[in-house]
Amino acid sequence: MSCHQANGEGLKGAFPPLKGSPIVLGDDLELLVNIIMFGYDARPEYAVMNAVGLDNNLTPEEVTAIINHEKTSWGNNAKTVSPEEVKKIMDFIKLTSNK
Ligand code: HEM
Repeated sequence: MSCHQANGEGLKGAFPPLKGSPIVLGDDLELLVNIIMFGYDARPEYAVMNAVGLDNNLTPEEVTAIINHEKTSWGNNAKTVSPEEVKKIMDFIKLTSNK
């Protein structure tokens, strides 16, 4: 909320909207989990997102709750995900990186 705002519309030139975000609405769960866990710095027109998940030691259940909140809020109406799917990706990330 502090960055993407309560209405999910972000802040121009700083934080992108999560409302209608192709990444939030899309099926690339690995990308979404990586963004939440390790942050994001893909575009010069936005600030840098910090590693919210890593910094707060989020569990697969917490990451799942955040993802499903984003996929079903502000008019977003995307298919929700299960903690099992998220856990598989987080375990894989842990296995393949020493993060
Ligand atoms: C649990 C909390 C958060 C979630 C789930 C989240 C989720 C996301 C997602 C899905 C994107 C990609 C959206 C798109 O481009 O369509 C994104 C980008 C971004 N987020 Fe967050 N975010 C969170 C917290 C934050 C916080 C606290 C900040 C401020 C420090 C932040 C700053 C940014 C920025 C600057 C980008 C764009 C980075 C770039 O494209 O270069 N986010 N976030």
